[in-house]
Amino acid sequence: TLPTQVKIVEVGPRDGLQNEVAVPTAAKIALINQLSETGLSVIESASFVSPKWVPQMADSSEVMAQISRRAGITYSALTPNLKGYELARQVNTDEVAVFGAASEAFTQKNINCSIDESLQRFAPVLEQAKADGVSVRGYVSCVLGCPYQGDVPLADVVKVAKALYQMGCYEISLGDTIGVGTPLAAQKMLTAVAEHIPMANLALHFHNTYGQALANISACLPLGVSIIDSAVAGLGGCPYAKGASGNVASEDVVYMLQGMGIECGVDLTKLAAAGREICQHLGHGPRSQVALALQAK
Ligand code: HMG
Ligand code: MG
Repeated sequence: TLPTQVKIVEVGPRDGLQNEVAVPTAAKIALINQLSETGLSVIESASFVSPKWVPQMADSSEVMAQISRRAGITYSALTPNLKGYELARQVNTDEVAVFGAASEAFTQKNINCSIDESLQRFAPVLEQAKADGVSVRGYVSCVLGCPYQGDVPLADVVKVAKALYQMGCYEISLGDTIGVGTPLAAQKMLTAVAEHIPMANLALHFHNTYGQALANISACLPLGVSIIDSAVAGLGGCPYAKGASGNVASEDVVYMLQGMGIECGVDLTKLAAAGREICQHLGHGPRSQVALALQAK
C-alpha cells in the first residue's frame, strides 16, 4: 500500500554538483542554506573522496564548516574510507554514507577496488561511526544496470545490499546509477531486496537518464517504499558513469507526492527557487519539468 509520508533525501549539493562544472564554494553554501528553508529533513551536502578523483567536491570541509545549520536537519556526506570519515567528522558531519555497487566493473572504476575489498574498507568506517554514535547510510549502485557490465543479476544487488545492512548501515539506498530501469524492473528489484531488508530501511535513488525515474518511483510507491533520493533542478550524475544524467528532480518528486496525497513536508515554491539560483552558476536551466512549468506560469 502507498505510504502516507515520504522522506526526501536531497542529494543535489553532492550527487548533483559532483558532476557539474565546479561552482564557487559560496554558491554551494548558499544552495544548502536555501534548501534548509524548504522543509527538507536530510541534505546530502558534501563528499569526502579523493580530490584527484572528484575535484568538484574538494571544498567539502569548507562547505560543511560554513553552512548555517538548522535544527532538525541532517547534513550528510559520502565517506568511502576511514580517511574520508575522519575528515567528515572534523567538520561535524551529522551522518555519513559508504557507497558500493552490485557490479564488479563499476566498483573498480568508481572506487578502485573489488566488491569484497570495498566491504572490507567500509567495515572500519562503520565500526568508528558506531563508537561515535553516527548513523551510516549504504548505497548500492547499478541496481538496474551497469555502464560497463550491462545487466546486473538481482542476486548481486541483494548480496551487496544485505552485506551493507548486516554491517550496520541503517538505510540502504538503491541506485539506478545510469537511469536505465523501467517500472516493472524497478518493482522486481525492490521486491527482491525487501525480502531481506525491511522496506522502511530502503531508499530509491534513481537517475533520470532515460526519463524513467519518476515512472519507476511511482511504480515502487505502492510497494510501501517511503524514502526517495532526488536532486533539486535535476542536477547531477556520476563522473565515472558515462552517459549518466542527473538524479530525478526534487521538484518533480514533490509535485507528484503532493498530487498523490503523500506528505513530504517540502515547500515546492522555495525548492524551485533554490534550483533556479544554483543553475545560474551551471550554464543550464533547471532540468525539472515542474520547475519549468512553475516558471512559465
Ligand atoms: P585509491 O587511489 O585506490 O586510494 O582511491 P588510496 O587509499 O590509494 O589513496 C590515493 C590518494 O587519495 C592518496 O593521496 C590518499 O591520501 C587520497 P596521495 O597520497 O595520492 O596524495 N585519499 C583521499 N583523499 C581525500 N579523501 C579521502 C581519501 N581517500 C584517499 N576519503 C578512493 C580510492 C575511494 C579514495 C577513490 O577511488 C575515490 O575517491 N573515489 C571516489 C569516487 C566518487 O566519488 N564517485 C562518485 C560518488 S558515487 C556515486 O555518485 C553513486 C551514488 O550517487 C549512487 C548511484 O547513483 O548509484 C552514490
Ligand atoms: Mg547517484
